[in-house]
Amino acid sequence: MAGAIFEWATPWFVHEARRWTQDDARAIASRLAPVLGAGGRVLDVGGGTGMLAALLANVAACDVTVLDSSAAMLRHAQGSHGVSVVLGDAAAMPFEDAAFDAVIAVDALHHMSRQSDVAAQIARVLRPGGAVFIAEPDPAALAVRMSRTLERMLGEPGGMLTPDEMVALFGSVGIVGEVERQGGMGYAFVARLESQADR
Ligand SMILES: C[S@@+](CC[C@H](N)C(=O)[O-])C[C@H]1O[C@@H](n2cnc3c(N)ncnc32)[C@H](O)[C@@H]1O
Repeated sequence: MAGAIFEWATPWFVHEARRWTQDDARAIASRLAPVLGAGGRVLDVGGGTGMLAALLANVAACDVTVLDSSAAMLRHAQGSHGVSVVLGDAAAMPFEDAAFDAVIAVDALHHMSRQSDVAAQIARVLRPGGAVFIAEPDPAALAVRMSRTLERMLGEPGGMLTPDEMVALFGSVGIVGEVERQGGMGYAFVARLESQADR
């Protein structure tokens, strides 16, 4: 069953999440900065243990909501300053329209099988002009394709998108931006939700 891995392998993902540094959070904050002031509202979709969310809340002085479908992962996200947690499915988010100034999803989208619904939900919960930062592994890299095979053997969707597929998916819901390479194996999609004035 998709997502089960995050219940039984939580300690491994906790270990993995310790890779996040203040510099990573600063780099993300800089991409969100045009629309994110102090006290701004950020949604971290599939934010898991909340370790990146806690760093981002600290460096950007913003409030970060971690949405995740795994209770086991979210248990590690509770209690950090500036971070709140919500258990739920990214394809059917329990938030009001235009509730957030920015949305991030890091190493998470390829774990979600209903990606079109997730993109539509991100567009719905973002305010017009809001910022998006999505980091994903690139299936052009052999190591990523091997990891995709392993994930699928474990019942995960393994839905790694190429940069072009990412741009097309989000463009279809009015989220428009650019792809930045992040080393040889990944990329970030940095974008904004179009406002009426952009159309
Ligand atoms: C590899 S972890 C990444 C966690 C965090 N973003 C990080 O980089 O440290 C992927 C997360 O996506 C979550 N996830 C998978 N499918 C989801 C869905 N449909 N809705 C919400 N969260 C989901 C998993 O529970 C897991 O915590």
